[in-house]
Amino acid sequence: MKVPIDLQGDVAEVLVSEDQIQAKVLELGARISADYAGRQLTLVSVLKGSLPFMADLMRSITVPVRIDLMEVSSYGGSSTESSGLVRILKDLSASIADEHVLLVEDIIDTGLTLNYLVRYLRGKSPASLRICTLLDKPARRLVEIPVDYTGFTIDDRFVVGYGLDFGEFYRNLRYVGVLRPEVYSTPPVADAGPAVEPGPPGDPVAPADTGA
Ligand code: PRP
Repeated sequence: MKVPIDLQGDVAEVLVSEDQIQAKVLELGARISADYAGRQLTLVSVLKGSLPFMADLMRSITVPVRIDLMEVSSYGGSSTESSGLVRILKDLSASIADEHVLLVEDIIDTGLTLNYLVRYLRGKSPASLRICTLLDKPARRLVEIPVDYTGFTIDDRFVVGYGLDFGEFYRNLRYVGVLRPEVYSTPPVADAGPAVEPGPPGDPVAPADTGA
């Protein structure tokens, strides 16, 4: 049965509030601005989940920034964990050679996506490359990733909001939250929206995204 999405009502718990996010974005922006004082910076955001974080973070940074956007997807693997092989759907628009680059992510889970991206971007000879993530879920890490700026370290729970999705929805929540379990057992659908993949076999409450 198709159950319509109730954007706010489907959320069981707010894990990181809008106020907490905004305070953290200001704090991270101040740290980054101090660290890169006297230099200019290229922010590279990984679509789609990092979009709200990128939009807020860039405006809290006071040194000159350029922005660029990448979009990637995983090859193979299971529905909950990527294989580590990443396909680039959208590449950088401009050269990052000799530029100071800060990769901006919404969440680091297994680390496989960033592991690939870091190697890929290093191959483009930036002057430096650092990583900033809003959320870090170290319990799920499969590869070590040197994270330079972390907003919040969270437990191994599936989270949505502020860019993070379940079945592509809930990205527009202004906070990070946890959905009610029954939402996971019935994948979200818009009234006339696209079909959404169900959660993986064998785990009735785990969603089909790594995101969170
Ligand atoms: C999420 C997130 C990271 C990646 C992290 O993206 O934005 O890019 O997963 O997972 P990992 O550490 O296990 O590699 P997702 O593939 O859900 O795409 P989206 O940003 O478009 O939602």
